[in-house]
Amino acid sequence: MYCPRPISNGMKILAIETSCDETAIAIAEFSGSKNRPKIKVLSNIISSQVKLHAEYGGVVPNLAKREHQRNLVPVLLQALEESGLRGKRKSDFPREVGLPKISAILEREPELFRQVTKKLLLLRPPKIDAITVTYGPGLAPALWVGVNFAKALAYLWEKPLIPVNHMAGHLYSAFLQKSGIESYQLLVTSYPAIALLVSGGHTELVLTRGHGKFRILGETLDDAAGEAFDKVARILGFGYPGGPEISRLASYAVAPRKIKLPRPMLNTKDYNFSFSGLKTAAFYLVRDFGPQKTKKLRPLIAKEFQDAVVEVLVKKTFRAAKEYKVKTVLLGGGVAANKKLREELKKALQKELPEAECWMPEPALAGDNALMIALAAYFAGKKKAPNRIGANANLKLC
Ligand code: KG4
Ligand code: ZN
Repeated sequence: MYCPRPISNGMKILAIETSCDETAIAIAEFSGSKNRPKIKVLSNIISSQVKLHAEYGGVVPNLAKREHQRNLVPVLLQALEESGLRGKRKSDFPREVGLPKISAILEREPELFRQVTKKLLLLRPPKIDAITVTYGPGLAPALWVGVNFAKALAYLWEKPLIPVNHMAGHLYSAFLQKSGIESYQLLVTSYPAIALLVSGGHTELVLTRGHGKFRILGETLDDAAGEAFDKVARILGFGYPGGPEISRLASYAVAPRKIKLPRPMLNTKDYNFSFSGLKTAAFYLVRDFGPQKTKKLRPLIAKEFQDAVVEVLVKKTFRAAKEYKVKTVLLGGGVAANKKLREELKKALQKELPEAECWMPEPALAGDNALMIALAAYFAGKKKAPNRIGANANLKLC
């Protein structure tokens, strides 16, 4: 099953995302045609572990695994409830047939197995057409929980399974636009398109010439953009995640002052990025200022750092956009919530490629969520036999 079109009008996809520190499940119904796709978001639940990981200054993989195991079943039940798809309990399920298989699939997730047997085994299968799950890239222990859960559900409910690349999810998140308080519409992309994907683990410039056709033009050689935001926030004395904090601080910066940070790889001919040197420059700046002066100048440092990251990202995106004569510029990933980045991309579009379009997810859907995984499955997913699906922490978009 390749899904650029609905198999039937009203194709319901249940999506699972556990690549990092959000346990997310969404159910979306797709209809219409390839050229006029429609979406109804039936539920979109994100259970964040961010407070837990904040204590450690970043995401702890095994802690994330434990939390996903605890959260998946309650989040699934909530998603089914909200979408009106929660089936009644049935008493005729041949337990003895299903249990050994499910127990084998969830061998390494005993807590999840316990909850599945207690809460899901006797539930009538919901009326969905496919299950999709993020299988990489991400934190291996976290990804495995989602993948194994999806396999167990696919087996239990006899549904097809579509593995999806997390970065494809971020790319497709830009296709979704709010059209009312609770309603969304899908945009029809004009290709070729260039996608700037900026998250905590990745920074990529991707050329796409159609659904599921991706070519990475460039990526970060060291820290990802979101990672740099997180690290500089820590240097300035803030917790994880640092991106929103830097962005907030930068908005307080008033008078221009001579704080200058480098714009790494701004003028290199390739489409790669590097943010580690910028982070180190911020570190030395703060060290030289000392705690008192740093505290006073925090908004200005945050602003200069943010300006540096945004300038490099925008400049390289538009150089690529022009070289490949794209019709659409897409933005995705947690850093896509950054106001300055969103504004500068729109400005650059008007100035440099006014005939093209620029799409970005609403800030609430820029970070990890399962709705974007449903979208990627619908537009670019391929069904795969469950026994051939495994988590791949270093999965590439291609
Ligand atoms: O895509 P995402 O939710 O998770 C990964 O796949 O990594 O991205 C999380 C990253 C974090 O590094 C976070 O600091 C950053 O996105 N982020 C931001 C903002 N909101 C989240 N970075 C800059 N400005 C923001 N407003
Ligand atoms: Zn992400």
